[in-house]
Amino acid sequence: MKKTILLLSLVCSLAASAAEPGSSKETSNGTCPVTGKPADPAITYAYEGITYSFADEASRQKFTNDRAGSLYQKLGGKAAIDAAVELFYVKVLADKRVNYFFEDINMNKQKRKQKEFLSAALGGPIPYVGKDLRSAHESLGGLNDTHFDAIAEHLQATLTELKVDPQLIGQAMAIVGSTRDAVLNRPAKPAAAATTAVP
Ligand code: HEM
Repeated sequence: MKKTILLLSLVCSLAASAAEPGSSKETSNGTCPVTGKPADPAITYAYEGITYSFADEASRQKFTNDRAGSLYQKLGGKAAIDAAVELFYVKVLADKRVNYFFEDINMNKQKRKQKEFLSAALGGPIPYVGKDLRSAHESLGGLNDTHFDAIAEHLQATLTELKVDPQLIGQAMAIVGSTRDAVLNRPAKPAAAATTAVP
């Protein structure tokens, strides 16, 4: 209970400043995060303590618009995702249905990777460069829908416990749900048929 209160206050105190532009201490490297072209050090935007520089004004604008509209920012940015992943793994490791998968896993690394993955998947500013989900899970023998559902259940419960808006939880869970085939190493489902074919 104490732990939950601590995490909640951590989220509340940090989330307010997490996604705010301004007071930047670090500077990104010289490549534009939008175009991949060399960045102009005069065209910058500060986000979550990092100053990003861009190839041109249009890229800067796209980056700021993407951030403003992102689920990542609506959820509270880096501080909120970090706190959610910490709480999520407390739940996962306490659950006998799935915790044995993590027996030999370095959980500090795992938490860092999950934070990176979820941040990028939810529209955070830093691209995910870890293993793709298919190869990350292919060696986990016997992984099936029941395990996936348990993991998704813990993520949903975590976001609910952190008092995230139910509508945002729904959006986040849809993104996580879209990884099911990759995590379970199944062929991806074909895209839905085009509705324009209906007379
Ligand atoms: C719900 C969707 C899931 C997502 C988004 C997800 C995400 C990830 C990510 C990002 C990694 C790290 C990849 C890397 O090494 O770079 C990872 C590894 C891992 N995941 Fe998942 N995962 C999901 C479901 C599951 C499920 C259902 C289980 C088992 C119950 C599981 C167990 C593991 C384990 C044990 C590893 C470590 C593998 C290793 O280091 O050898 N994951 N996952």
